[in-house]
Amino acid sequence: MSWSIIAPAPGTPPCGPPTPGTDGWIVTRHVDVLAVLTDPRCVVPAAAPGPAGGTLAWLRGAVSRFSPPEQHPARRAVGVAALADLDPDELRTTAARATAALLDVVAAPAGPADAAAPATVPPHPAILPGRADVDGSGAGAPAARAGMPPAAGGPGDDPGAGRVDVMALLARRVPVEVLAAGLGLADPVAAAPAVAAVAAAYHPGADPAAVAAADRAVAALLALSPPAPPEVAANRIGLLVQACDATAGLIGAAVRWGLAAPAAVPTADLLAEVLRLAPPVRATRRVTTVALRLGGRTIGPDTPLLLRFDAANRDPAAHPEPDRFRPGRGSLTFGAGPRGCPGERHALALAEGVVGEVRRRCAATGGPVTHEPHPTLHVPTQIEVSVR
Ligand code: HEM
Repeated sequence: MSWSIIAPAPGTPPCGPPTPGTDGWIVTRHVDVLAVLTDPRCVVPAAAPGPAGGTLAWLRGAVSRFSPPEQHPARRAVGVAALADLDPDELRTTAARATAALLDVVAAPAGPADAAAPATVPPHPAILPGRADVDGSGAGAPAARAGMPPAAGGPGDDPGAGRVDVMALLARRVPVEVLAAGLGLADPVAAAPAVAAVAAAYHPGADPAAVAAADRAVAALLALSPPAPPEVAANRIGLLVQACDATAGLIGAAVRWGLAAPAAVPTADLLAEVLRLAPPVRATRRVTTVALRLGGRTIGPDTPLLLRFDAANRDPAAHPEPDRFRPGRGSLTFGAGPRGCPGERHALALAEGVVGEVRRRCAATGGPVTHEPHPTLHVPTQIEVSVR
């Protein structure tokens, strides 16, 4: 696998002027996407205010992410203030230590004693209080196969020994657990699956079963959260939900390409170019409030716009030789303007902590990489590595 030329993911549209699609206009050029993100005449599709009572609808109606322009600044300020208390350097260190501890368990030689005993992670009470076992099930699954399907045979000839699914073991849990601990949730380990359940139904179009699971998860997260007025609690939970899939997707993509890249490529450079070339957030949405000109086209009022980061990040007008890995170019993957991601530095620090350890300790096994079906996110389903 070449790592220095990264082809677009399937479904990435070519760059060109805005084009009408089945659900509004599709915007693909770097200059046009940036223009929309910074144009107050284009607004985020707002969620209707939800009923009080700790449901998904309540959460969506209270977070900055889906707020109308008049409510957005105050709600965003809640999340920004909470993030200001979290030092990215500490997040990086904590994520790296948690990752190292999990990989240590996977790397430990399997033997009869290990087969009988639950796989435990060295304690990090100050970091991830409550963590008890590698797969979070409490069942003591054999560490050597953490996140992987069961393998036949005894521990000595276990073909799964030392293999691990980075997504299940690390990407989907370490960043959220570290953030949840930093935000003062009572049980960060219990919070992680609840955050994932909310994230799965956060964007419009989720099926009723996912929404019901998310309703229960919102109630659970509120019970774990420090006491706060409802809107403050909602926007702190919103940080975790926003972080969940996107950071997992970044870690998955960076491990996928990073294990093929020379060790001399700094992990920070790797993350920056992976964000551009394999963005975990492929697109976002806006709606026009008035008729406007964009990229030489006239677009009417109340028209949905789909802003394709994956296409704009490869716009040759912004990035010559766009498919080539070349650090220092930047990307639109964290958005821009007043709604741009407030967690960029935190996301990068968490991902760097995890990916740096994985690059140091793991090798690719060449297993197939598939992605979760999602209209705007690009998150690997499973990434298998072997652990040294
Ligand atoms: C690789 C990881 C991440 C990516 C690619 C990402 C990307 C984005 C993008 C593109 C937006 C803006 C969406 C739009 O304008 O329509 C956004 C918003 C947001 N992100 Fe992130 N994000 C990531 C991680 C995080 C993390 C770790 C946090 C919190 C710790 C976070 C918190 C938020 C919040 C609260 C918003 C809404 C901001 C607002 O309402 O103004 N994100 N993110």
